Amino acid sequence: MAEADKVKLTIDGVEVEAPRGSMVLEAALDAGIFVPHYCFHRALSVAGNCRMCMVEVWPRGRDGKPMGPPRKPSIACATEVADGMVVKTKSAMAHEARQGVLEFLLINHPLDCPVCDQAGECDLQDFSFQFGRGESRFREEKAIKGAKDFGPEVRFYGNRCINCTRCVRFTQEIAGSSDLVQVHRGGRNVIDLADGAVFDHPLSGNVVDLCPVGALVSRDFLHKSRVWHLDRTDSVCPHCSTGCNIEVHTQDEVVQRIKPRHNPHVNGYWICDRGRLGYHHVHADDRLTAARRNLGPEHEGEVSVRLSFQEAIAEAGAAIERAGERAYAIANAWLTNEELFALQTLWPTDRIGLIARPPGEEQRFYPKWGDAERNPSLPRQHERGKLYEDGATFVIEADRNPNRTGALRILGEQACSEQRLDAILSAALAGEVETLLVFSGMPDYHPPEVLTGALARVANVIVVDLFDGPLARAASLVLPGAAVFEKRGTFTNGRGRTQRIDMARPTPGQARTELEILFALGRALGRPLPSGSPKRLFELLVEQNEAFAGLRWADTHHVAPAWSPHMAAARKGLPVLASPCAGKGGSSA
Ligand code: SF4
Ligand code: SF4
Ligand code: FES
Repeated sequence: MAEADKVKLTIDGVEVEAPRGSMVLEAALDAGIFVPHYCFHRALSVAGNCRMCMVEVWPRGRDGKPMGPPRKPSIACATEVADGMVVKTKSAMAHEARQGVLEFLLINHPLDCPVCDQAGECDLQDFSFQFGRGESRFREEKAIKGAKDFGPEVRFYGNRCINCTRCVRFTQEIAGSSDLVQVHRGGRNVIDLADGAVFDHPLSGNVVDLCPVGALVSRDFLHKSRVWHLDRTDSVCPHCSTGCNIEVHTQDEVVQRIKPRHNPHVNGYWICDRGRLGYHHVHADDRLTAARRNLGPEHEGEVSVRLSFQEAIAEAGAAIERAGERAYAIANAWLTNEELFALQTLWPTDRIGLIARPPGEEQRFYPKWGDAERNPSLPRQHERGKLYEDGATFVIEADRNPNRTGALRILGEQACSEQRLDAILSAALAGEVETLLVFSGMPDYHPPEVLTGALARVANVIVVDLFDGPLARAASLVLPGAAVFEKRGTFTNGRGRTQRIDMARPTPGQARTELEILFALGRALGRPLPSGSPKRLFELLVEQNEAFAGLRWADTHHVAPAWSPHMAAARKGLPVLASPCAGKGGSSA
């Protein structure tokens, strides 16, 4: 940033540099000085309605020097930084202002913490703990605003709403749908669906993350877990080639929910609902957990024999060895770069094909602003939420696979072409394939009949899959594979960014990651892989494949900044909540 684009100001005695035009709140947060706030969000227009971010901004005299404390506090989210500005965020004036704001916010707020899903990561809890009065002076009847489902993913608890309008602004400025509106005035003020709207927008779940309190909650996560019991693992969504950065939240090795992880180069603050809900397959009833040999129709009654992992690998190795040049492999676009590299190391690429989930519709989202001519600040506000050059705020890619780009870079265009797959299947139908190793394991993948038909003509079909579906049933040997959230490695998204996935839970039963299976197969074939470690294989890939040249393992993991105390605590594995009632004679929520 050029010097002219920066301003220098002092916040709590610390000299801080901030981009010209930015707000005091952003400058403070960037400098690691936390100022409590509700309605402000970096990707949304500034509303300035919650008044929680009150700070002292000292007025300056004609000489530009600060003149001393102001007569009243200002909101940091709507006060633009200026050279020489002096800001105090922790003064008695700021503290008293926040206390007053909180008292008003809590007037109608129910004592829902014990049953509220937001408890433990709720800004109202946290700020009440820091600035609350400890007792209420409100003796009148509380306003009752009811609860209802806004859509398939989002439930609204009106009594908990603090009317920050983040959700309303999100639907206008990011989703471009204007599905949510604010209705009524004063104490009756409430969020509602726009006339005739159903909140089934593909990005609807983001309002749950945006809501600073427990007014908008996920129906999928409703009363499933207390958030302080959750373990968090950084990963990447596999459901399309956007490659959104996510956190996988697990409790006792069960995935409970998916949350977005901020990455300004990929997904901003958001994920789509497909990615958010796309984890249930991990715990599907038909999940494969044991290796087996399927028996042919000549074996009456018995359909399969259970094998140990070692037995299955030995049988697979022998079948591959026997077939020689009549052994083929079919990879998929959900394998990690390291798994694809391992396969390429073990197998001639001219005998590898690729399957993938068929493309869907590309969805691009743009803001739905009001009249730009009447509101000259709109272009600047749009800058805050814009993620793509064309002004799009979010994109769901048509390619429903996370790593087609990685497959293209590692296996090459020919191996990933439809012609190659057709050629392998034609050879299988003609009886020219003796052993076929198929990696499936893609949720919602329905193998075409031509594939299952071709498998029926191959003597040894070794299928590595997540589910006991048509491919596993057509196999002679079945090895249970791993879901994306059970492995480590990297994916390369549709725009060429290589990003790390991490293991959020172990594989169930005998299931193994595809890398572990390939590593064991390499040994069985007498051609051991140089390493079984995803990190080491990634380093070798970088050395050997110029499409990955210069990449470092450490750079594949984007660490999102933590802007709030509970986010920072959660990242460090600390308890996310200091009880709002602690020290006030109440029991902890
Ligand atoms: S529902 Fe949540 S995000 Fe929407 S206005 Fe109320 S508190 Fe804010
Ligand atoms: S846009 Fe794609 S990568 Fe992002 S959350 Fe949705 S499905 Fe996952
Ligand atoms: S965050 Fe500043 S007024 Fe709401």
